[in-house]
Amino acid sequence: MEKIRIFGHHDQQLKGTVRISGSKNAVLPAIAASLLTDEKLRLKNIPLVKDVHSMLRLMKELGADGDIKKNTLTIQARGILSEEASYDLVRVMRASFLVLGPMLARFGKAVVALPGGCAIGSRPIDLHIAGLQKMGANITLEHGYVKAEADRLQGADIRFEKKTVGGTEHLVMAAALARGETVLRNCAQEPEISNLCELLVKMGAKIEGTGEEVIHIQGVGELGGATHEIIPDRIEAGTFLVAGALTRGDITLTGTEPGHLAAIIEKLRSSGAVIEMDGKKTLRVVGSPEIKPQDVTTSPYPGFPTDMQAQFMVLMTQASGTSIITETIFDRRFLHVNELLRLGANIEVSGDKAVVRGRTLLSGAEVIATDLRASASLILAGLIAGGETIVNEVEHIDRGYEAIEEKLKALGARIERLKMVE
Ligand code: EPZ
Repeated sequence: MEKIRIFGHHDQQLKGTVRISGSKNAVLPAIAASLLTDEKLRLKNIPLVKDVHSMLRLMKELGADGDIKKNTLTIQARGILSEEASYDLVRVMRASFLVLGPMLARFGKAVVALPGGCAIGSRPIDLHIAGLQKMGANITLEHGYVKAEADRLQGADIRFEKKTVGGTEHLVMAAALARGETVLRNCAQEPEISNLCELLVKMGAKIEGTGEEVIHIQGVGELGGATHEIIPDRIEAGTFLVAGALTRGDITLTGTEPGHLAAIIEKLRSSGAVIEMDGKKTLRVVGSPEIKPQDVTTSPYPGFPTDMQAQFMVLMTQASGTSIITETIFDRRFLHVNELLRLGANIEVSGDKAVVRGRTLLSGAEVIATDLRASASLILAGLIAGGETIVNEVEHIDRGYEAIEEKLKALGARIERLKMVE
């Protein structure tokens, strides 16, 4: 069990430069895509986070060798030893479910544990399954496992009932090796999906409509290797932009993709923060003394991302007025609220809405992280809470943030990781 201790104060000001890592949510499907070919993939700018190591453990179990040098991963799925992705690996990381479609498309068979729910909601995969079945897969669910078989997947015309990032990624990968054309409608448009489509095209896939709501994929007989750059992590970048606004500091972010952050930048600017961009990969945030309350509703890209909801909520606890935060994507993504209340925040949750009353000065306390983005919000809160904040169960934060305490320390935060003797 690891903890992070933060000594915060109400006038904390973070200043300096931070380099943003590659996107966790882009690299995970890219790793799954390596199953679509027996040639090597070289993925550059990968984040050294726990979820990447979990995914590589799973790939090794399946017979694919991955090797990381600095921030480049070389991975090759030459021969698959096992068609089964076991529960203990899929349980810890839901994205591992994405190996099902590629294994089915390449080998005609796959057995993958059903991902469980998680702290932020039920997380079903019914839309993934329905799409694969439309492509001719014979799928049975037994003993907590999805067993899928198909001689060769057939192209199909599939409309997603609702926008799903993983579902879109899953079916694009399966369709790349299917026979004939697949049309995917009502696709999610997150940048991580486009990054995956660009990788697949480099591997030889025939994809029209990358980044659009309708994607056409002409199946091909086989795919080859490729070298590809993983996009910057827009949620890590958004988290540090909030940190700059929250502490009324002055932070420069390098290695970002500002175009992926429009909704976050817009909300931060209307709350009073100054955000400058140099037209390339750098963003600068300068916090303002007064933070104006903002109503926020999460929605699929290019809307305000659900993965930034908890972090923005912390900023709104310091706003001079009342903000209403509406979470439309997940059914239980307010678990961080109880912990923020322990720090003295004034937040009332009713259904999919959280009413945040500011400005309330926070005071340090011991809190528990429940999921990845909630952990980030508790660390942000600890920066500006008076006194000591201990965040327990920080394993969650390591899933998606590379060395977050080092990056914050370099900006002036008094933060350290406490290794607990088991
Ligand atoms: C991806 O999860 C991200 N994870 C999540 O980030 C992110 O919050 C989410 O997209 C939404 O943007 C990765 O990319 C690895 P969805 P995913 O399928 O694909 C429902 C983080 O913190 N749904 O877009 O699992 C689902 O319940 C993580 O980095 C179905 O009903 O999300 C949810 O309400 C957390 N049936 C909504 O759709 C399905 O078959 C969106 O889910 C699939 C999804």
